[in-house]
Amino acid sequence: METHTAQASAHPNIAFIKYWGNRNDALRIPANDSLSMTLGGLTTTTNVTFDAELASDEFLLDGKEPGAAARERVAAHLDLMRLETGETRFARVESMNSFPAGAGIASSASAFAALTIAAASAADVQFDPRTLSRLARRGSGSAARSILGGYVQLHAADEDEFSYAESIAPREHWRLIDLIAVVDRTHKQTGSTRGHQTASSSPLQTARVADAGRRLEACRTAITARDFAHLAHVAEQDSNMMHAVMLTSSPPLLYWAPASLSVMRRVNELRQDGLDVFYSVDAGPNVHCLCTPDAAREVLSALGQVPGVAEILHAETGAPPTCT
Ligand code: DP6
Repeated sequence: METHTAQASAHPNIAFIKYWGNRNDALRIPANDSLSMTLGGLTTTTNVTFDAELASDEFLLDGKEPGAAARERVAAHLDLMRLETGETRFARVESMNSFPAGAGIASSASAFAALTIAAASAADVQFDPRTLSRLARRGSGSAARSILGGYVQLHAADEDEFSYAESIAPREHWRLIDLIAVVDRTHKQTGSTRGHQTASSSPLQTARVADAGRRLEACRTAITARDFAHLAHVAEQDSNMMHAVMLTSSPPLLYWAPASLSVMRRVNELRQDGLDVFYSVDAGPNVHCLCTPDAAREVLSALGQVPGVAEILHAETGAPPTCT
C-alpha cells in the first residue's frame, strides 16, 4: 500500500468568551458556546505518515519523544481518526511548534487541529470543515476552533454531531494584536482536562453558564461592529467569571501568579488612559493583552516594564490552517 506524508499547520486561539466545564468529558462536549480569535504568528506544524511497517504509533514533539501522557493522548486521537477514515495502519507523527516550548502557551488547540487535518489527508479522506472541527474537538475542546481562521464560534450541544465551530468573521474583518505577557514558563500544575472536571463543583458555574449566551451575543455584536470598547468590557468580564469559577471549585484552582495580576492592573490603567487594550487569561498564569494595531507599540513598551514579565510573544488575527 502506498504511503504518503501529509503536513498541516494550524494556529492556537484565544477565547474572548471561554468555555469551562464539559457536558460530556469523554467526548469533550463543552458546557457553553465559546468565541475565539485564531492566533496567527504562533504555529504548530505536524507531519503524519501511515505506514504498514509500523508496529505502533510513533510521535516526536519538537524532535523529542514526549512523556507517556502526551503519547497516549495522540495515539487515542489517531485511533479516532482511523475509525473515521477507515485507515488501518499505525502512524508516524512529527510535530513542531514555532513558539517557545514550555512558555506556557497552550498548544493543545493548534496541536490537535493540525493532527486532525494531517491525519485525514494522510488517510486520503476529505472532510468538510464542520467534520474536521468536530473531530479536532475530541482531541482538545479548544482545537475545534483552530480549524478556522479569524473569529470563530464553537457550539455547545447535547450530542457530538452538533458541537462544532463556525466562522463568524474572517481575519480580514478586523486586525487585532495579541501581546502575550509570559510571566511563568513552568508547566501548569492542573491541566484543563482535569480542570473541566471540577468546574461543576463551584456554586458560581451555574450562573456563569446561564449568562454565557448574553455574553456571547454581546461579543459577536462588538466584533461585527468592530466596537473595541464593548469587546474589551465583555471579554474581561468573561475571563474574570471563568477565574471566579476556578477559584471557588473544590479543590480550588488559582492559576494567576502575582505578576499576572500586575499585568491585568496595568492593562486596566492603560485603557483608562485611552489605549485600546484588554486582557484575557486562560488556564495558566500568562496574560493575553489584546489591542488594536495603533495601540500595540505603547502597550508593548508598558508591558515590558511590569516586574515579573519574562517575555512578550506577538500574535495577531490569523488565517485558517493549511495542508499539503
Ligand atoms: C480556559 O481545550 O484546553 O482555554 O479538551 O482538556 O484540551 P481540553 O481543554 P482545553 O480547554 C480550554 C479552556 C480555556 C477556555 C477556552 O479556550 O474556551
